[in-house]
Amino acid sequence: MAEKEIEELPGVGPATAEKLRDAGYTDLMSIAVESPKNLAETCEIGEAAAAKIIAAAKEAADVGGFEPGDVILERRQNMKKLTSSSKAFDELMGGGFETQAITEFFGEFGSGKTQICFQLAVNAGLPYEKGGLEGEVIVIDTENTFRPERISQIARSMDVDPIEALHKIHVARAFNSSHQMLLVEKAVEMSHTIPVRLLIVDSLTAHFRAEYVGRGALAERQQLLNKHLHDLLRFGDLTNSVVAVTNQVSAKPDAFFGDPTRPIGGHIVGHAATYRLYLRKSKGGKRIARLIDSPNLPEAEAVFTVSEEGIRD
Ligand code: GTP
Ligand code: MG
Repeated sequence: MAEKEIEELPGVGPATAEKLRDAGYTDLMSIAVESPKNLAETCEIGEAAAAKIIAAAKEAADVGGFEPGDVILERRQNMKKLTSSSKAFDELMGGGFETQAITEFFGEFGSGKTQICFQLAVNAGLPYEKGGLEGEVIVIDTENTFRPERISQIARSMDVDPIEALHKIHVARAFNSSHQMLLVEKAVEMSHTIPVRLLIVDSLTAHFRAEYVGRGALAERQQLLNKHLHDLLRFGDLTNSVVAVTNQVSAKPDAFFGDPTRPIGGHIVGHAATYRLYLRKSKGGKRIARLIDSPNLPEAEAVFTVSEEGIRD
């Protein structure tokens, strides 16, 4: 059943609907969970009128519901694992990167975040028995670091036809954080026509960090990041995809998280990401991945390399 448009809510005329949309309230859910005070300010209406709109949105919104455990079990049984092409790394992850989960790679520049994403993008197209997901890939590239030449190189080293590999990887540049968030909606649309099994957001936080500067902007930034992450998690659940996101550490003190080894986005990203991996450079071109936060795996480390062929032991 199609969800109601916001104009169909009692008390919402065209002018109010426009104000709502401009302020980012594009669906019923976003209105249903808002406070009357905030909505009243946005729409320049009284709080009582706002409360009525919210109550109507709550009635009409698809809030979701409770699922029996066996249904959740069935979905979990569809869960698949994607190989990193490094045995040690896969072992650290309990066999590979899980679908229906967000995996966050954070670390300083050059620590290998983007290279891992390239490797995963090639691997997602492999057959299951080779650790792949037999699917296609969507890349939301915020820093213009997608390099098809690298994909070709990695594919060739695995005896995969480079053009075939590239053909399954769908890349969009995100020009700012709101564009980045919109592209997730676009990705949902695409997943109706192509079998997407991996969604990459590289970088998750760079735009947010650049656009929302200083303490005053922190609350809004975190709120938007939170929404973005929940959209991503939902994408992973709906499409049985791996969601891989990258995050830098704050080299110069962040407005809030001053520690230079802390990932950007703090607790919001930490809580939303199912798996958090801290990457760092080591001697002789080696990299160390540390699994920081996982619902079912111990905190541990794996050593891997970034080479011309991609990610290896
Ligand atoms: P930022 O996006 O800047 O935060 O860094 P990142 O973590 O995404 O870094 P990235 O994954 O791009 O890693 C770059 C590093 O990977 C380089 O400094 C090289 O050490 C290594 N690398 C990239 N391409 C190659 C390659 O073709 N051969 C080898 N041997 N190493 C490579
Ligand atoms: Mg990068």
